[in-house]
Amino acid sequence: MENKVLEIEKEALDALDKIEDLKSLEEFKNKYLSRSCELTNIKKSLKDLPVEVRPKVGALANKVFHELNEKSDERYEELYKIELDKKLREEKIDVTLPGTYLPYGKVHPLTSTINEVVEIFQHLGFSVTSNENSPEVETEYFNFDMLNVPKEHPARDVQDTFYCKNASNVVLRSQTSGAQIHAMKEKKPPIRIISPGRVYRNENISARKNNLFHQIEGLYVDKNVNFGHLKGVLQEFIRLYFGASRPTRFRSSFFPFTEPSVEIDVQCIMCGGKGCPTCSGTGWLEILGAGIVDPNVLKGVGIDPDVYSGFAFGMGVERLAMLKYAIDDIRSFFNNDIRFLKQF
Ligand code: DAH
Repeated sequence: MENKVLEIEKEALDALDKIEDLKSLEEFKNKYLSRSCELTNIKKSLKDLPVEVRPKVGALANKVFHELNEKSDERYEELYKIELDKKLREEKIDVTLPGTYLPYGKVHPLTSTINEVVEIFQHLGFSVTSNENSPEVETEYFNFDMLNVPKEHPARDVQDTFYCKNASNVVLRSQTSGAQIHAMKEKKPPIRIISPGRVYRNENISARKNNLFHQIEGLYVDKNVNFGHLKGVLQEFIRLYFGASRPTRFRSSFFPFTEPSVEIDVQCIMCGGKGCPTCSGTGWLEILGAGIVDPNVLKGVGIDPDVYSGFAFGMGVERLAMLKYAIDDIRSFFNNDIRFLKQF
C-alpha cells in the first residue's frame, strides 16, 4: 500500500510539472486532491489494513496529500500571476488614443432661426401664440376676409393659394397673418404676440422660392401704438439678429391689412450690395412686411379703432437664415442633405 501511495505521489508530481494553466490545475485538483480521489480513498480504507501497517500508510498518505496540496497552491499562485500579466498586456488601454466618433444630431437651421427670433421678441415683451391659434389649414375667412383682403385680390387666386378640393373655402394658409385674427378674437388688448409657422404658396420652385416656407407673424395692439413703436421694435430686432453694422432700409409698401405699410430690406450678404443673382441685381433682399393695423381689421374683431391701434409684421424665416449664413438657395433647407445641415 505504501508503494501505491508513492506511485500516486510520483504520478501527481509529474502531472503538476506539466500544468500550464489554471483550468488544468483545477482538473488536477479534482483528480488528486478531492474527496473522491485515490489518496482520500486510501485514507478512508486504512481500517481494512493490518493494524501494524496502518500508522505508516496513514502518515505517508497524509504527508503526500499535504505535499500535493501545498505544491498545487504554489502552482496556482504562479499561474494566476502569469495569466493576469498576460491579460493586462493584451487588454491594455491606450488612454491617449482618440475616442470613437459618435455621430450626433443637430438642430435644423430653420428651427434655430425661429428659436433665435422668438427669443429676441420675448425679450421685447412678446409671447408666442398657442398652436390652436396658428393653424396651417385655414378658412378663407381667417387667411383673407378678416385681413381686409378684397375678394378679387390676386393673392386669392389658385395660382397663388392652395385650395382644398372638397371645401372651396378651406386653404393651406398662404401667410401667418391669420394668427393675428385668432389672437384678437381670443383676447382683448393689450396684445403682444408672435406666431411662427409654416405657410404654403402655389409657386414655381426655384433658388428663391419654395411652395412651403416659414413666417413669423407679430402683432402689438394697445392704446396709442404708433409708427414710431413699429420702427423702434423692428430696428431693435434687426440690430439684435444681424448686428448693428448690417445696412437695412425701410421702404413704403402696401398690404390690405395695414395702413401705412412698409417693407424692410437687408443688404444682400452674397454680394455685399453690389448686385447678384440672389438679390436680382438690386443688392437688397426683403425680410419682412409690416404696418399699422388697418382700422377695418380691428373693427372686424370687435376692437374699437378709435380707442386702440396697433402694428403688425410678418417675416420670412428662410430669408432671415439665408441673409445671416450666406445661403443662396432656399431649397437647401428642404433637401435634408446632411453636409449642408452639419454646417450649423
Ligand atoms: N403676410 C404678409 C406676406 O406674407 C407679410 C406681412 C405684411 C405681415 C404686413 C404683416 C404685415 O403682419 O403687417 O407677405
